[in-house]
Amino acid sequence: MALYAIGDLHLSIMREKTAFLFRRKHYELYKPMDVFDPVWRNHVDRIERIWKRRIRLEDTVMITGDHSWCKNLEEGEKDFEFIQALPGRKILLRGNHDMFWDVGKTDRLNQRFKGSLSFLQNNFFSYEDYALVGTKGICFEGKDSWEHFVKIRDREEERLRSSFEKASQEGYRKFIMFLHYPPTSIGEQESCFTRMAAEYGAEQVIYSHCHGQKRYYDSFHGEVEGIEYRLVSSDFLKFQPLRLL
Ligand SMILES: [Fe+2]
Ligand SMILES: [Fe+2]
Repeated sequence: MALYAIGDLHLSIMREKTAFLFRRKHYELYKPMDVFDPVWRNHVDRIERIWKRRIRLEDTVMITGDHSWCKNLEEGEKDFEFIQALPGRKILLRGNHDMFWDVGKTDRLNQRFKGSLSFLQNNFFSYEDYALVGTKGICFEGKDSWEHFVKIRDREEERLRSSFEKASQEGYRKFIMFLHYPPTSIGEQESCFTRMAAEYGAEQVIYSHCHGQKRYYDSFHGEVEGIEYRLVSSDFLKFQPLRLL
């Protein structure tokens, strides 16, 4: 039994095709990702192949956001079927592109996908004696006004605290913290998210969202003040889920 993480699958599956010559499945996408970077070529096939080779049924995988380009569950049906069919227990965190996920309706998502997918938002999940806590987070990317950023950051800070608090109240003292966005904005040495990780004694902080060589080192990698920071964007990991525990 092991705990893994990977983020940013960025699915947009229209249909599956089988190439009879090689007896291999191919996925037809309405938004191919290799227009951004060749590393994404056939990324859905690669995710499926690597995941099935590496992840066992008893393992847990946290998927840290940007699951699908779909705008609602109906449009993303094939994407969710794809994730559901992968081995292991899958827990999903919300990313900035996850339009299907209304925060206020997370309970409804957990009901609808009960037994196959779990959704982490204002709640927590356990793995052995660890609480898996998290929220989308935010970092300043210069796309919005500072005021807007502060408003989102404060809301995300509150959501993260709610996740930590619920786990603490149930007696958990060991934490792994998950964010979609990097824990710090470029150049920052700390943030409300890193301070909260320290406050509750999180052992690891796992994040994704950063794509491409130019973005991979926007935030922390490795140990900072006793906490292990790890980037798990799927392109950074070459689509191989990273083992955390
Ligand atoms: Fe992404
Ligand atoms: Fe993202």
